[in-house]
Amino acid sequence: MKPIVNKVDVPAEHYDRLFIPVACAVSITTVDSAGRINGASFATCVRVHHEPTCIAFCVDSHKDTYKNVLATNQFVVNIPSFDREILEKVRTLGLPFPPGVNELEKAGLTALPSKVVKPPRIAEYKSHFECQVEWTKEWFGTRLMVVGRVVAASVDEDCIDANGWAILEKLRPAHYCGQAYSGDNKYRFVASYEMMEIDTVFDGPEATAKDTRKA
Ligand SMILES: Cc1cc2nc3c(=O)[nH]c(=O)nc-3n(C[C@H](O)[C@H](O)[C@H](O)COP(=O)(O)O)c2cc1C
Repeated sequence: MKPIVNKVDVPAEHYDRLFIPVACAVSITTVDSAGRINGASFATCVRVHHEPTCIAFCVDSHKDTYKNVLATNQFVVNIPSFDREILEKVRTLGLPFPPGVNELEKAGLTALPSKVVKPPRIAEYKSHFECQVEWTKEWFGTRLMVVGRVVAASVDEDCIDANGWAILEKLRPAHYCGQAYSGDNKYRFVASYEMMEIDTVFDGPEATAKDTRKA
């Protein structure tokens, strides 16, 4: 493994500059009510609100992450980089280890204490969003939608600029490519860090108007 880089804390007004793109493949750390560490990977992770910054993900009801989130109301979203060695570990965290097993140890990853919440950060991952559960919703009988409010964020010091913007070429986040998780044992990821800035070319009053519509 590469040496672990210093983490810098990110102020709340820059949380959503760091969680880019707005959806990523991630690994989520939780603890159970006895404080035992759990790590699991998730493709269904999206930033769903700017201020306060909130992150959502979906988990099946038989999984340890489900039980831990409901028991403790806390989780940490850790964003891996598009590196084979790291994505292999993302895959390991997706294997069905029994409850109470520390998947970070199984994957050879390092638990780094969080700043605010009990679940640790994953030191080898690049950025971290410590979350307090805002709400959850059961659906389809077996699925839980979890929305967490970011209460602390941190990032490798070489992955952020002075204005709080993530440096994408360094952060190198990834998306997970679609299929359910037990298919042909090939897990496919796509790099998601080639950025293009787009101007508003539409030439009408809406292009510059403030959106005054109210809910
Ligand atoms: C790349 C990747 C993405 C995954 N995405 C999800 C997901 O969005 N929701 C889910 O319930 N499981 C997902 N999984 C499967 C879980 O990581 C897996 O079931 C894991 O064993 C759950 O661990 P736990 O029981 O410790 O919570 C994914 C696995 C991988 C490798």
